[in-house]
Amino acid sequence: MTLLDPLWTALLYLAAAVCFILALKGLNSPRTARRGNLVGAFGAVVAVVTVFLSVKMDNVPWIMGAIVVGSGIAAPVARRVRMTQMPQLVALFNGVGGGAAALVALLELAHTEDPWVRLAIVFTLLVGAVSFSGSGVTFAKLQELMTTRPVVFPGLPVAMALALLAGLAAAGAIVGTGSTGLALLLLAVGLVAGVLLVLPVGGADVPIVISLLNAFTGLAVAASGLVLGNVLLVVAGTLVGASGTILTRAMAAAMGRSVAGILFGAFKGGSTAGSTTASDRPVRSSSAEDVAVLLGYAQRVIIVPGYGLAVAQGQHTAAELAEALEERGIRVDFAIHPVAGRMPGHMNVLLAEANVPYESLKEMSEINSEFKTTDVALVVGANDVVNPAAKTTAGSPIYGMPILEVGEARQVVFLKRSMRPGFAGVENDLLYEPQTTLLFGDAKDSLTQVLAAVKGL
Ligand code: TAP
Repeated sequence: MTLLDPLWTALLYLAAAVCFILALKGLNSPRTARRGNLVGAFGAVVAVVTVFLSVKMDNVPWIMGAIVVGSGIAAPVARRVRMTQMPQLVALFNGVGGGAAALVALLELAHTEDPWVRLAIVFTLLVGAVSFSGSGVTFAKLQELMTTRPVVFPGLPVAMALALLAGLAAAGAIVGTGSTGLALLLLAVGLVAGVLLVLPVGGADVPIVISLLNAFTGLAVAASGLVLGNVLLVVAGTLVGASGTILTRAMAAAMGRSVAGILFGAFKGGSTAGSTTASDRPVRSSSAEDVAVLLGYAQRVIIVPGYGLAVAQGQHTAAELAEALEERGIRVDFAIHPVAGRMPGHMNVLLAEANVPYESLKEMSEINSEFKTTDVALVVGANDVVNPAAKTTAGSPIYGMPILEVGEARQVVFLKRSMRPGFAGVENDLLYEPQTTLLFGDAKDSLTQVLAAVKGL
C-alpha cells in the first residue's frame, strides 16, 4: 500500500519536471540564476518525496541513512568550496551521479528478462562507468594531484579501440544472456575507457571534458529511468544530457576548437599545453599611482577580468574601483569573455557576487567594437582571452579562439604577478606593445593600491 495513487504520482513528477525546465531557463542569465537554482532544488525535493510516497520500498532505514551521510558530506563541501575550485567539485558530483546510475543498472539486471530493458542496462553500465572514472581523472588533473598536461603513450589509440570493442561484445552478450559476470566485466571496461578518454586531454580543455562527462551522466541517468520505469528520471537525465551537450559545444566554439580536437588532438600533437616560460623582451611597467592617473583622467574605461582576478579574490575591489571611477564621471564597463576563468559563467558569477550591476557586464560580441573608442583597457588577471596570437599565429594552441580586442584601446594596463603566460601556455605579444603597461603584483593588492590612488586624485 502506498500513500500516492498513480495519478498524483504522475502529476507530482510533471511538477518536478517543470521545475527542472524552469531551473535551466533561470540559469540562462546571472540575473535569474540564483532563483533558477532554488527552483531546481525544489523540483528535486518534490521528486524524492514523491518516490517515497508512491513506491513500496524495502530497506528504508538504509536509504535514509545513505541520504543523511551523502547530504552530510556534500552540503558542507559545497558551501566551503572556493570559486576557483568549482570545476573540481562539479567533476566529483558528476562522477558520483554516473557511478550511482551504473550501480542501479547492475542491480536491476537480475530482475529482468526483457531484452530492451537489458539494452538500457548495458548502456547505463557503460556510460555511467565512463563518466565515473573519467570524472575522477578530471578531478585529479584540476586538483593537480597528477600532471595537467596531456598523457599519451604508444598504443593508447589501440587500447581505446580494444576497450570499445570489448565493451560492445560484452554488451551484446549481456542483452542475450543477462549474465551478471559479464555485467561486471562491462563495468570494468567502462572504468578503463573513462580513464583512457580523459588522460590525453590537456590543461585548458579539462573543464570542457567535465561538461561532456556531465552530458554522459545525464544520458546514463535517463537510461536508468528506462530500466526502473521511472519517467521523471528519463526527463531529468535527458535535460542534463541535452544541456551538457549544448554547453560542451558552446565552450568548444568559444575556444575556437572542435570537441573531437579537444578529445583526440593530443594524438597528433595538437594539445593545449604550451610553454610556461616567457621571453626576456623588455616591457613597460608602472606604479599604482601611474595607473590611477591613467584611469582617473580617462573618459571611457573597460575592465577585462580573467582567471587571476578569481584567484586573487579581487572582485569586490574591482567593483569598488569601477564605482570610484564612475563617481568621477568616467564610463566603466566589464568585458566578459565566454571562457574567461576556468568555468562557464565564471566572471559573471564573481562580479555578480561583488554586486556589479548586470548592465555593466558586457558580452564579448557586444563590447568588442567599443575598444577602439576606449581610453584604458584594464586587464585584471586575464591573458589567453586577450592574446592576439589567437588571431595571428596559426598553429598556436589558442589559434581560432575569438578574443577581446583590448589591443585596440588607446592604453592597455595589465595587472598580473609576473611575465608567465596564461593557462594555454602561450606568450602574449600584447604585453610588449608600446601602448601597454604592466602593474606587477597580486590582482587584489594592485587593485587596492590603484583604488586608494584614484581616491586621492
Ligand atoms: P589565463 O589565460 O589563465 O591567464 C590568467 C592570468 O592571471 C595569468 O597571466 C596569470 O599571470 C594571472 N594571475 C594568476 N593569478 C594571479 C593573481 N593572484 N593576481 C594577478 N594575476 C594573476 O586566464 P584567462 O585570460 O581568464 O583565460 C582563461 C583560460 O582558461 C583560457 O585559456 C580558456 O580557454 C581556458 N578555459 C576556460 C574555460 C571556461 S569555461 N572559462 C574552460 C576551459 C578552459 P601571472 O602568473 O603572471 O600572475
